[in-house]
Amino acid sequence: MLKDKKIIIGVSGSIAAYKIPYLIRLLVKEGAQVQVLLTPSARDFVTPLTLSTLSGNPVFTRSFNPEDGEWTSHVELGLWADLMLIAPVTANTLGKMANGIADNLLLTTYLSAKCPVFFAPAMDLDMYKHPVTVGNIRALQEFGNHLISPTEGELASGLCGAGRMEEPENIVALIKEHFAGEWDFAGKKIMVTAGPTHESIDPVRYIGNHSSGLMGFAIADEFAERGGEVTLVTGPSSCSLANESIRRVDVVTAAEMHDACMKHFGDADIIVMAAAVADYTPEHMETEKIKKSGDNLNIKVKATTDILSGMGKKKKPEQFFAGFALETENQLSNALKKLERKNLDMIVLNSPKDEGAAFGVETNKVTIITKDKEQFEYDLKLKLDVAVDIVDKIRDLTN
Ligand code: CTP
Repeated sequence: MLKDKKIIIGVSGSIAAYKIPYLIRLLVKEGAQVQVLLTPSARDFVTPLTLSTLSGNPVFTRSFNPEDGEWTSHVELGLWADLMLIAPVTANTLGKMANGIADNLLLTTYLSAKCPVFFAPAMDLDMYKHPVTVGNIRALQEFGNHLISPTEGELASGLCGAGRMEEPENIVALIKEHFAGEWDFAGKKIMVTAGPTHESIDPVRYIGNHSSGLMGFAIADEFAERGGEVTLVTGPSSCSLANESIRRVDVVTAAEMHDACMKHFGDADIIVMAAAVADYTPEHMETEKIKKSGDNLNIKVKATTDILSGMGKKKKPEQFFAGFALETENQLSNALKKLERKNLDMIVLNSPKDEGAAFGVETNKVTIITKDKEQFEYDLKLKLDVAVDIVDKIRDLTN
């Protein structure tokens, strides 16, 4: 379940650090990629050699390592991680986190991290009960961090009470529960299309469009990130997928995309047709390169099959269909007509007339219209973020 999840474990200087090698083993066994950061005092409790052997990655304490001249970027680490776990967290590190003190790599990475942060305190019971510690924990929770409460029991000092770091098995269970909560599409089969199609005129020329494929790729990745079993049918595109679980089917022409969609859509629960399929294709492809002759060249074209309409006719009641509408005029009414004509549950309207939207750019501005004619307008955003909005809306409409 944790396959390819990127987890940073930040270890601070507490005797409970002895539990971390076992925690790393459990996470690695679940398929997670683990990067360990140690505070300087954590090195007194657990060795970097043990932790790097178990995690399969070098262990970092400082941004700059004078031995090999290597620089470790806290910003890159913070962006890389899907989750940061600070365990054990001492009263000292807790206080620094709560107050924005950034005097080691663990703390600068914590401040840079965009992912969810979990922290598992370990300290003596009086330190844990002290109003400063209580206030710091509350502050960290108010910042949106997740507390893994210490358990009660015998402490290393010989005292008995709350302060023992939670056991590794339970921490792993909490992490799994967290990721499972993000899996809105676990068990769902999803087919997404992306990119343009290329319709050959002769061996060197084609009719195409400016679609990059980015929107469809981002949607496919977003579904897969949330546990969906995704098939992406894509026309020619230089985009790449982040999620390795996605089955990618490459096609070139509208006819090939039609065949691939017909093959895969039957057992899909959700179909998102983001591809910019050519509406016309040359009646026949010349086998030799067309030579230049005269001022004009007439190429006879014929209509391609409308893939979405074809699938719409065979749609099962439990299937959810989303299409795209690229419009330059009468945008809303044209999108609504397409929604009905193609038997869709939802259509995503975008227009190249909006600056920064539609083809060939990294951003898009969309309006989602549902079957019940509800409209949701979104701001101009990165396509990666538009994909989140689209997938969120599909989740809401399919639940
Ligand atoms: N579509 C399709 N097969 C086609 C053409 C379009 O499946 N041969 C799908 C697109 O992937 C999109 C939706 O239909 O999800 C609308 O595409 P669009 O190009 O906006 O509309 P068209 O139906 O082609 O109509 P027009 O070009 O006249 O606007």
